[in-house]
Amino acid sequence: MREFLIIIGAWGLMFNAPVRTVLGDSIFHITIPCLFVKCPSHQSRPPFACDPSNGMTENLPFCQVSLHIRDRVKDLIGRLTLQEKIRSLVDNAAPVERLGIKGYEWWSEALHGISDFGPGTKFGGEFPGATSFPQVILTAASFNASLWEAIGRVVSDEARAMYNGGLAGLTYWSPNVNIFRDPRWGRGQETPGEDPFVAARYAVSYVRGLQGTAAGNRLKVAACCKHYTAYDLESWNGIDRFHFNARV
Ligand SMILES: *[C@@H]1O[C@H](CO)[C@@H](O)[C@H](O)[C@H]1NC(C)=O
Repeated sequence: MREFLIIIGAWGLMFNAPVRTVLGDSIFHITIPCLFVKCPSHQSRPPFACDPSNGMTENLPFCQVSLHIRDRVKDLIGRLTLQEKIRSLVDNAAPVERLGIKGYEWWSEALHGISDFGPGTKFGGEFPGATSFPQVILTAASFNASLWEAIGRVVSDEARAMYNGGLAGLTYWSPNVNIFRDPRWGRGQETPGEDPFVAARYAVSYVRGLQGTAAGNRLKVAACCKHYTAYDLESWNGIDRFHFNARV
């Protein structure tokens, strides 16, 4: 069961699965996208799994959009070997050629504009750069939720354009909702601050702006909160947050 859940986390992106996250008193949904439920066609990147152009997968149950998501996930998980599952748990997921599934780089970032920090996004050619809005700590201080959402919309417009041009992904590790607890962390400017209520409102608005509000199961891009909680130490004198059990 645990293995199933972990894999679902990674492969959920392919099925537009809603993920529920609790932050402070608020609950918001982060919906993660369909990699093989008809994303817009484009020239620059190979089609994702289950694309109608790939005759090899058209009869596989996990490609049948008429089936329940649960059954599609079950079918797909049942077909993957342990090695394939493990290779899907990292940002540069390996292809599973025998099932027509391409590799995918999950890591793109857009905290306050499309960033080329993540390996999934590169500036260049027709897209030498993107709009960079002020750091989140400043934008959050406007206490203006419609502004936060409007910024998210601009960012995802540019993300889609860059994706169509073959230079960006569809999955963004944004926003950073780690509660800003100690300035010595050094990355507080990425966050909406120390107030869980404001952070929750910020996240809801920004995620809505990024993902879009269109009816149905189509996402503009997918948001994925990075630094969800308790990440208050970056790297200090050889100590980082990944190698000790911080009691928070
Ligand atoms: C909030 O932001 C919107 C833009 O989304 C702007 O039109 C509005 O004036 C702002 N409200 C305040 C009180 O500044």
